[in-house]
Amino acid sequence: MTTFITHLECTSCGTQYDCTTLQNFCTKCQKPLFPIYDLGGVGRVLTRDVLKTREKSLWRYREVLPLPLDVQPVTFGEGGTPLLPAPRFGERFGLTNLLVKDEGQNPTQSFKARGMATAVSMAKHLGATKLAVPSAGNAGGAMAAYAARAGLEAHVFMPSDTPRANIIECREVGAHVTLIDGLITDCGAEIANCKAAEGWFDMSTLKEPYRVEGKKTLGYELAEQLDWELPDVVLYPTGGGTGLIGMWKAFDEMETLGWIGSKRPRMFTIQASGCAPIVRAFQAGENAAPEFPNAHTVASGLRVPKAVGDFIMLQILRESGGGAITIEDDEMIRVTRDVGASEGLFVAPEGAACFAALKPLLERGKIRRDERIVIFNTGSGIKYLECYEA
Ligand SMILES: Cc1ncc(COP(=O)(O)O)c(C=O)c1O
Ligand SMILES: [Zn+2]
Repeated sequence: MTTFITHLECTSCGTQYDCTTLQNFCTKCQKPLFPIYDLGGVGRVLTRDVLKTREKSLWRYREVLPLPLDVQPVTFGEGGTPLLPAPRFGERFGLTNLLVKDEGQNPTQSFKARGMATAVSMAKHLGATKLAVPSAGNAGGAMAAYAARAGLEAHVFMPSDTPRANIIECREVGAHVTLIDGLITDCGAEIANCKAAEGWFDMSTLKEPYRVEGKKTLGYELAEQLDWELPDVVLYPTGGGTGLIGMWKAFDEMETLGWIGSKRPRMFTIQASGCAPIVRAFQAGENAAPEFPNAHTVASGLRVPKAVGDFIMLQILRESGGGAITIEDDEMIRVTRDVGASEGLFVAPEGAACFAALKPLLERGKIRRDERIVIFNTGSGIKYLECYEA
């Protein structure tokens, strides 16, 4: 046995697909596919005790990742980021148990490294040679770096107003960069148009089945770092939502493995006021989120006007008893310095949005001061100097 993945399954219609060839969407309903594992088999070799002996990267969860055990991953040592207490920032609002998962410490300075480590490893393993991705910035940088490490060609399509650091990073690690005068959805459409003729494999998030697997390790790490007791509340800066969706999948897998109980955190989506399709759909009681018109925000990772995993996210927010809230750009930028000065972390505006959300969530009675609250700082502020220079 070299792998515990058994097949891929459509998140909407349940159709099953082979996991030994390259796949994108479900061909019947054009929805995302999820990898499914033989968790009974996993549980016989991987236990919470065995994990204590493993390396610090996300590959410690190897049996619940899609790459066969005898295949070398494409890796920079991603994952294993610290879960840091934020007592001084928390104190401002009387919060006694505020924690930050600092994803800015990943290779390429964002949590996108997790998804790209598994997705690029699988793409290479299954025979892709040219990878293409639409990106708000960080996913492009991560894919470019992992593709270079794998010896694969990288084509990154980004909006022309993407932070400069992301654009330069992609070029300097050898990617072909195309800037589009539009949004990430326009970049995705351009790739869809060209990919057949160019022989590109489409690495758009949730349009291929393995980025979510890398992102789900956020959930495994959270449980392990909290000694297998999930927090009360999770605040997640949401664009495409892959991390939120991945964590929820991890929670279910861990419960099946007998590693955690049935308690789940209340999951909150944090979006920018200028681009809040999920917040709007959540508040309207919808099951899907239509495209958000005239999307704009300095938090480029949140500038995703239409997410293919919208229906999955909305279901998670409701099932968990969580919610969705918007933050103004000015507030993100202001709070970045509060977080920096009180905790020493230079967070990305996306992460800052979660810190900014604490006050309104407290005021609206959505979170309590004594709860264990985890914020995902998904990237480093270093990539966004333009936002802070003004
Ligand atoms: C720093 C940062 N935070 C959050 C997001 C949104 O992530 P997701 O697509 O998982 O919602 C992105 C995506 O580009 C990002 O770069
Ligand atoms: Zn389907």
